[in-house]
Amino acid sequence: MTRRLLVRDLAQVATAAGREAPLRRRALGDIEVLEDAFVLCAGETIESVGRMRDLPALDGDVVELDGRGLCAVPGLVDCHTHAAFGGDRVEEFSLRAGGASYEELHAAGGGILSTVRATRAAGEDGLRTAVEHHRDWMRRMGTATFEGKSGYGLDKDTELASLRAVQSAGGIPTWLGAHAVPPEFDDADAYLDFALSDVLPEAAQLAEAADVFLERGAFDVAQARRYLEACRDAGLALRLHGDQFTESGAIPLAIELGARSVDHLEATGEEGIRALAASDVTGVLLPASALFLDRPMPPARLLVDAGAAIALATDFNPGSAFTESLPLVMSLACTQLHLSPAEALDACTVNAAHVLGRSDRIGRLAPGYRADIALLDAPDWRYLAYHLGGRVVEKVILGGELA
Ligand code: NIG
Ligand code: FE
Repeated sequence: MTRRLLVRDLAQVATAAGREAPLRRRALGDIEVLEDAFVLCAGETIESVGRMRDLPALDGDVVELDGRGLCAVPGLVDCHTHAAFGGDRVEEFSLRAGGASYEELHAAGGGILSTVRATRAAGEDGLRTAVEHHRDWMRRMGTATFEGKSGYGLDKDTELASLRAVQSAGGIPTWLGAHAVPPEFDDADAYLDFALSDVLPEAAQLAEAADVFLERGAFDVAQARRYLEACRDAGLALRLHGDQFTESGAIPLAIELGARSVDHLEATGEEGIRALAASDVTGVLLPASALFLDRPMPPARLLVDAGAAIALATDFNPGSAFTESLPLVMSLACTQLHLSPAEALDACTVNAAHVLGRSDRIGRLAPGYRADIALLDAPDWRYLAYHLGGRVVEKVILGGELA
């Protein structure tokens, strides 16, 4: 007999309506709110959602959870994290507080490369422990599903160990094989020769997608194209870090290659906005990273109004965004990106699930979807964005079980 869990007497249930994804323009922000409501889970799946007055008589064993004073939203989906890393960058954080720039530190062999050293030193067990630890932090913030990138190994063993660590922690692995050029290679092309011949065949067995840092000082368009085409031919979906500091051709390349997403976009101008809006590529916005590096925010409002599909994510990593909090990202989306709380919720549920190729299974509270639920200690679901830095998430249900 299937185990059932009834979350009852909830102040509100808030979720995107319908089944469509990604949500764009006015559909972004379509949120259905039920007051005095319940969510009934059967096994790992949602059986029904409704108002208490419509709750049918339930026979058989049903575990009940008292939802009085709580609101339910879909378990959040973090579609862009760098959860597989060793060490920290707290020294660099202090230097940046004193005026050093992120790009200068990177060019001087610090930045990403200092995390590469610490990640290689962590070993397989250390990485596994680190990713589990980071996943637990995310869960406490209401994240039910996370994507996790490699990219701090940049040698075969550490890249594959990073992907395995994400997978064993229940995350969705992305091979960020083109994040930086490691010190043992003279240039980006020589490194890509190695990555594509020695790492890609096994990385493609572990990861769902490939990602590249297309930026001045990292990989250029020709190198990114070469890397992504080889990854696509190996069966991986494609993602790009693009337009973080400079517009370096990431949007046209993402469109040309049919990528799932182009992420960051802090430097995107009018032409890029128009091109993205006319495409099927989702723009993943990472306002916590812009805040952490004291950089301009991405043109979120212009993107949404032009018709682009956007998602929100943390970019959780030790250097440019040391936060696992999607509620904080939603607050920044409302206060800095001028999105409404409803747009922000859709962007880190339905649209984030779309970026991960799972919008038919996660990101909504509706029959047939996975029973991933974030329960908020709040009288109104919008506290998720409103309570800046607050401890809003009270409990998380994952696959019909209290985590
Ligand atoms: O998305 N921009 C490139 N990669 C990461 C940061 C990596 C780091 O600083 O360690 C990002 O911001
Ligand atoms: Fe990133």
